[in-house]
Amino acid sequence: MRKILVTGALGQIGSELTTALIEHYGENRVLATDIREPGKDCDCQWALLDVTDSRRVADIVRDHKIGTIYHLAALLSAVAEKKPQQAWQVNISGLYNVLEVAREFGCAVFTPSSIGAFGPNTPPVTTPQDTIQRPTTMYGVTKVAGELLCDYYFNRYKVDTRGLRYPGIVSHKTPPGGGTTDYAVDIYYQAVREKRYTCFLKDGTYLDMMYMPDAISGAIQLMEADPTRLIHRNAFNVTAMSVGPEMLAASIRKHIPQFEIIYDVDPARQAIADSWPDSIDDSAAREEWDWQPEYDLERMTIDMLNHLREKLMA
Ligand code: NAD
Ligand code: SER
Repeated sequence: MRKILVTGALGQIGSELTTALIEHYGENRVLATDIREPGKDCDCQWALLDVTDSRRVADIVRDHKIGTIYHLAALLSAVAEKKPQQAWQVNISGLYNVLEVAREFGCAVFTPSSIGAFGPNTPPVTTPQDTIQRPTTMYGVTKVAGELLCDYYFNRYKVDTRGLRYPGIVSHKTPPGGGTTDYAVDIYYQAVREKRYTCFLKDGTYLDMMYMPDAISGAIQLMEADPTRLIHRNAFNVTAMSVGPEMLAASIRKHIPQFEIIYDVDPARQAIADSWPDSIDDSAAREEWDWQPEYDLERMTIDMLNHLREKLMA
């Protein structure tokens, strides 16, 4: 059996996806990699890998007999807007290197896209699967280009490329890496720590969100899906909820009645959020591979608060 490679494995999603893949397929089947060194508690198979180094990507895939790549290494929206040149290198050259190696060695590739692949002239409510994509951020530009590049490698070379347009991902294990939806994680940390949160997006900013267990099971489920059913291989809209800051605050207040939210808007991240949809339509994912999230807002809030109380109050 060939192995599974995870790039960007120390990030918000990679740290939990790696554990889930090990649970699902076995410890010997998974190789975790990142451009940074892991902490001392890392007990999985591990290698350093900068995805912009094409020779190293090829060496790792050949030497470890890799058959599937979960390619998570990327710069997120707010960081990419501060470092657009580096974002192009990591998000596009890194993806190109992975796809080239996948072509050469016959690997399947999972690559996340994002709600950031949409832009200000995309229909913002119940955004269709197939619609206008003219993003105004470097992150969005790399995500649309990435979707197209993955389609190209499937159509031209029959590389088994698949991907999800993730919404903002909420989780308690690893902090988010510099996105516009990070507030939806920070709010829970600050609710437990301070019972008060200063939000960098304004009230009424609706964005799609998803709790990490659904993001992880969605990725694995898509990679195991019957390929003959997949029409939208590389860019499935997926969502679990559309929420604004005040909705998250109201949900937290059911469990921490004193919780307060105030607003100190960051114009850069507000502009990014305003260019993204309020809510997306994920019916193609439901039809083509039976996507069905388990966590709604209330269930996510209860689970986040329980885990964070344990983590922060210990
Ligand atoms: P993250 O920022 O938490 O983690 C990214 C990881 O990539 C980091 O550990 C970083 O060290 C690593 N990295 C950066 N440059 C690298 C390089 N040159 N070579 C190898 N590794 C490198 O990101 P994440 O939230 O885990 O996101 C993973 C993927 O999911 C990305 O493609 C992101 O665009 C996508 N996504 C995430 C979200 C979200 O809310 N977290 C939403 C939509 C899409
Ligand atoms: N959570 C991500 C970001 O804000 C969405 O892709 O960048």
